[in-house]
Amino acid sequence: MTNAAITGWGKALPPSVLSNEDLESFMDTSDEWITSRTGIKERRISHVETSDMATIAAHRALAAAGLEPHDVDLIIVATCSPDTLIPSAAAYVQAKLGAKNAGAVDLNAACSGFIYSLVFGANMIRGGTHKRVLVIGAEKLHYYMDFTDRTTSVLFGDGAGAVVLEPTDGDEGLLSSELGMDGDASESLCIPGYGTRGDRVADAPSEVGVRMDGPEVFRRAVTMMGGASVRVVEKAGIAFEAVDILIPHQANQRIIDATARKLKLPSERVFMNIGDYGNTSAATIPIALTEALEQGRIRPGANIVFAAFGGGLSWAAAVLRWGQRTEPLGTSDVDFPPADRTTLELLQPNFDFFGLEPQ
Ligand code: COA
Repeated sequence: MTNAAITGWGKALPPSVLSNEDLESFMDTSDEWITSRTGIKERRISHVETSDMATIAAHRALAAAGLEPHDVDLIIVATCSPDTLIPSAAAYVQAKLGAKNAGAVDLNAACSGFIYSLVFGANMIRGGTHKRVLVIGAEKLHYYMDFTDRTTSVLFGDGAGAVVLEPTDGDEGLLSSELGMDGDASESLCIPGYGTRGDRVADAPSEVGVRMDGPEVFRRAVTMMGGASVRVVEKAGIAFEAVDILIPHQANQRIIDATARKLKLPSERVFMNIGDYGNTSAATIPIALTEALEQGRIRPGANIVFAAFGGGLSWAAAVLRWGQRTEPLGTSDVDFPPADRTTLELLQPNFDFFGLEPQ
């Protein structure tokens, strides 16, 4: 049966860095607390829109696959922070790329969005309706960050990653997947007032920032992500020892460690870059995959486990067998425009809106 394999990959990380020390300068927190509870040291703050980051990552992924924008027939952008609700971020990406032969759609499964999109894209290829699918995870989460709430605002960052899916008749490709949702727990991670449920006039700023019950999300994440990872390995029909690398959603180092323990994986077979970027929601996995390839951590034929959880509460996991090529066919020189403001200047609209008093 025809399967879908990843043939191109790329990432786009905005240049402005927000370190734990920067956070200490305007919030009651510490590098020690953030590092020990989450593993995060710094995150990126974007001076461009979500679709701009997505487009840069897409150019790089297409170059790695040796393809041109007009070769793509479907673009899926996993995001919960689109530039606008109408049109979708995917519509902007399609235009900015000049992918004139592509349909384009956003998918919102919060932090599980990339794996959801990967599975949807792969199944379009398996079903024979599409041949070259661009799957992108892109987020500008700092837009939602209420820096008066130290329990959530230290966790998230901006960025994008992309992969190209193409048909294959070889051994590589998507081997198994699981997509799940625990909608009953939706209130434990949400932006309550952003959408038709909100009151455009009366809502307090706190209603349009991320609200999270951290310990509750933590407990459920360990169960959902760990359980799904085990089940997709079993479904793929491979032994646990045959898993070469776990590329998990980067939300919290302790949640990743717990997932790795469930798979009985030693730390050298777990990819982690949460220290550098924090939680970029749907973008964490394609960014991590790209960096794993850049660091030579993916060998030809590797069995990769992807696993994620997030708002919804959603979860998703998949096993994908890599092909023979671990080097990009080409590179793209498309890049970010220079940032015209400092990181703290980029955050000033958040400080103003959510009412952060200078310390
Ligand atoms: N800096 C310093 N102290 C902080 C802090 C910060 N940024 N954030 C919270 N604290 C304090 C709390 O106020 C609390 O203080 P208290 O005991 O005096 O009341 C204390 O630290 C413990 O808070 P708690 O929320 O119980 O900490 P925790 O160990 O559960 O860690 C998270 C908090 C958010 C790091 C953790 O719950 C988590 O990672 N949850 C999952 C979140 C997640 O991954 N979300 C994304 C889903 S995709």
